Amino acid sequence: MTIDPVTMLPPYRIKVVEPIPFLDAGQRREAMASAGYNPFNLRADQVTIDLLSDSGTGATSADQEAAAARGDESYAGARSWFRFREEIADLTGYPHVLPVHQGRAGERVLFGALLKPGQICVSNTHFDTTHANVELVGAQALDLPCPEALDFDSPAPFKGNIDLDRLAEVLAGPDGKRVGLVLMTITNNGLGAQPVSMANLAAAADLARRHGVPFFLDAARFAENAWLVSRREAGYQDWTPRAIAVRAFELADGCVVSLKKDGLSSIGAFIGLRDADLHARCEANLIATEGFSTYGGLAGHDLERLAVGVREVLEPAYLQARAAATARLAQMINDAGVATVQPAGVHALYLNAGRLLPHLPAERFPGHALACQLYLDGGIRCAELGSLYLGTMDDDHRLVRPAPFELVRLAIPRRVYAEEHLRYVAAVLGEIAKDPEQVTGYRIVSAPAVLRHFKVRLEPLR
Ligand code: F0G
Repeated sequence: MTIDPVTMLPPYRIKVVEPIPFLDAGQRREAMASAGYNPFNLRADQVTIDLLSDSGTGATSADQEAAAARGDESYAGARSWFRFREEIADLTGYPHVLPVHQGRAGERVLFGALLKPGQICVSNTHFDTTHANVELVGAQALDLPCPEALDFDSPAPFKGNIDLDRLAEVLAGPDGKRVGLVLMTITNNGLGAQPVSMANLAAAADLARRHGVPFFLDAARFAENAWLVSRREAGYQDWTPRAIAVRAFELADGCVVSLKKDGLSSIGAFIGLRDADLHARCEANLIATEGFSTYGGLAGHDLERLAVGVREVLEPAYLQARAAATARLAQMINDAGVATVQPAGVHALYLNAGRLLPHLPAERFPGHALACQLYLDGGIRCAELGSLYLGTMDDDHRLVRPAPFELVRLAIPRRVYAEEHLRYVAAVLGEIAKDPEQVTGYRIVSAPAVLRHFKVRLEPLR
């Protein structure tokens, strides 16, 4: 028998469904205009396929919902907290676990207790809120991605790695004393959803330890990183994704984990720590700003869904089906003539808009133009990762320094879209790729001073 259900099918069927809206082209044009040509300003009921984020957008399982019904909403010491803590401790091995309502709250609490003004946090790549939270405590965020990370066509298996030579240089150099934290983002969401190898994690941990610097994981996609390690890294083929994830946490002094991704839930996160002192400092801040340390801003039913979710997410059949769906979408998109960051990761695909739309210079925001076109032509929502988000602007919102790339992220919610939905996305992109020159550029009309991309308003240039 060559037909194997385990490698061909997602290991679940659908029990509860939600309608998706279909708007005609005129309605989509109107929706985009009133959103100031910013997909973040669209109403969800104006979106047919929503690939804006894989965060908090997944479907829960029957087991998670059954567990949620047992949610204990006691203010302190709820049963749900103990179930959650036990699952997290079993996965991470950390003696201290603090729940928070989402990842960035964990970042704020952790960095507030761990980093001092003037210190440096070194990472393979900080996620945008992580970067913001490092800078909010007066520290500096320094990204040291490996050189192949910026070669989007390279098939190298671990383009999420940190540049170990540069890390060693920084730690041993004149700024070495200022490094207060080494933080590895697994997988590297800021640069193409690329995984980090266990060898790279171990070597970075070793370097940090030799210089007396805490080594932490931003492990929002711990299960997907573990899956890619099991597929791509020599020596790990016989390890379960769970064993790989456990080993990754073991290599670190602690972690901050948004559970809106691999927690298979709409909300939640935690901080994991070995150090009792640091725990005490974080806990004081947590109680003052998030909630008592046995719920941290989460409801008992959230803690229950998460306790089940962090176990389900490491099931090999689930991870295999999810990775295969993303890889198939990448193949369909590439066959339609649109380049994506290679090799395909799991939670998202990154379209190379700069290459597809060479007629649009960076100051016309080709990535943003492609994201808008996907909505205008197909009701598909996604976001740019290019000069609109990362470029430097003058006071009149004119681009003075472009980003090093013009990408569009298609983030794939977990257990939500079927093969047909993804095929439709590839078909819409294929139509755009047949006549890319009809895609118009944009200019900024107004923009906030910080985290520009969320609230910027633009207009198309005919
Ligand atoms: N770290 C990483 C690597 C992330 O991708 C995110 C969120 C966070 C931290 C913050 O967690 O959202 O729970 O506060 N990423 C989402 C995304 C928003 O769409 O990539 P949060």
